[in-house]
Amino acid sequence: MKEWSDFTNISKAKGVWLTDSKGNKMIDAVASMWCNVWGHSNPQLVRAITNQSKISQHTSMFNLTNEPVEQLAKSLIKISPGMYKVFFSDNGSSAMEIAIKLSLQYWKNIGEKKKIKIATIENGYHGDTFGAMSVGYVPEFFGKFKKQLFSTIQFPVPNNYRFPKKMTIADYQNYCLDKIEKRFRKKEDIAAFVMESGAQVAGGVIIYPKGFQRKISQLCKKYGVLFVLDEIATGFGRLGSMLQYDEQKSTPDIVAYGKMLTGGYLTMATTLANKKIYDSFLGEFNEWRHLFHGHTFTGNPLAAAVANENLKMYKKNNLIKKIQKTSKVFEKYYDEISKIDYVGDIRHKGMLMGIELVQDQKQKTPISPEKSINKIFFEEGKKNGIYLRTLGNIVMLVPPLAIAEKELDSLIQRAIQTIKSAKNQVI
Ligand SMILES: Cc1ncc(COP(=O)(O)O)c(C=O)c1O
Repeated sequence: MKEWSDFTNISKAKGVWLTDSKGNKMIDAVASMWCNVWGHSNPQLVRAITNQSKISQHTSMFNLTNEPVEQLAKSLIKISPGMYKVFFSDNGSSAMEIAIKLSLQYWKNIGEKKKIKIATIENGYHGDTFGAMSVGYVPEFFGKFKKQLFSTIQFPVPNNYRFPKKMTIADYQNYCLDKIEKRFRKKEDIAAFVMESGAQVAGGVIIYPKGFQRKISQLCKKYGVLFVLDEIATGFGRLGSMLQYDEQKSTPDIVAYGKMLTGGYLTMATTLANKKIYDSFLGEFNEWRHLFHGHTFTGNPLAAAVANENLKMYKKNNLIKKIQKTSKVFEKYYDEISKIDYVGDIRHKGMLMGIELVQDQKQKTPISPEKSINKIFFEEGKKNGIYLRTLGNIVMLVPPLAIAEKELDSLIQRAIQTIKSAKNQVI
């Protein structure tokens, strides 16, 4: 906090542009924390909120339901192969807490006492609450709470840019998968395997090699471990498909959605479960099988109304096809970005690009400046009319999903300019 004497105050947001109180404009390369779909102030989404606000604003999901949330549950089940019921919450971390609780309680509900551990992959991120920090343990973020977190079984992740020298990436992937299978075989104590779907985003844009996620889903099936996927950052088009688990042919038992669900306008997240999980929670009252979990704003009708409109717009505008076409704009710039002498690696899929900055390209030594790289890039970006955030030494380009090709061109050019002009402050 000491680095920030004041904060840029956004007074208006329209389309992909943010305007601050002094009149400066910045293109939103963060999609307002990876969730904006159609740009800001979209009239259809705004109308959906205003219309619903005249009917009801918030009514509880305790004993009750409401029309928008019922409709949303149906639509989500329709687009989610293998899923049966939806549990509503109001942020991604909570959706993951619910996923963890569902998977641990499932085994209790069916009378299996040994399945009490959670397996994960290193470097994953699932949110900032205690359960989410435990399964998505990023040491730089959560080291201070390590003693209070519950322990998990962590497996390595095949990272294309950093893997052991004497191996190919394919060898390393097999090594990682082998470790998982050996552990599954050794002891039947694992309740669930939890991972981000398609790629690790906050952990540095690690896009899994082909087949990695699918193989884990197969191992889970083979050894009776629940497969839990987090699509909060990667689903709904971010990586170029509606659902990564569908693209990777890796149907989970439980899956979480968030961020883009409401087009990035209101706060809502969901945890979906298949029939096997749902049925295990049914029983007589005195069997105490039900899930003790609920939040004040669970199933908020305003959020559900805007999510319904958002999903309609995905279909009507064929958004996933549009993303696949627009995201090719990134490819045009691979060469130019990789020629910048402190860029070590470019990782890109769909509407997500991570640019890793290094001290030394050959040695891949991470940079470690005195000031936070995020702060340097934010200030430099602002001068170039772009809102940028970095994660450690990785510059993240995460545009609103429906950005036009011309706007994306402009966004990338502004990012390149910023990487070049920030260099003397970073190394
Ligand atoms: C993959 C993933 N899971 C969970 C979360 C947590 O979501 P929220 O910030 O809404 O709590 C995030 C947030 O960035 C995320 O990227």
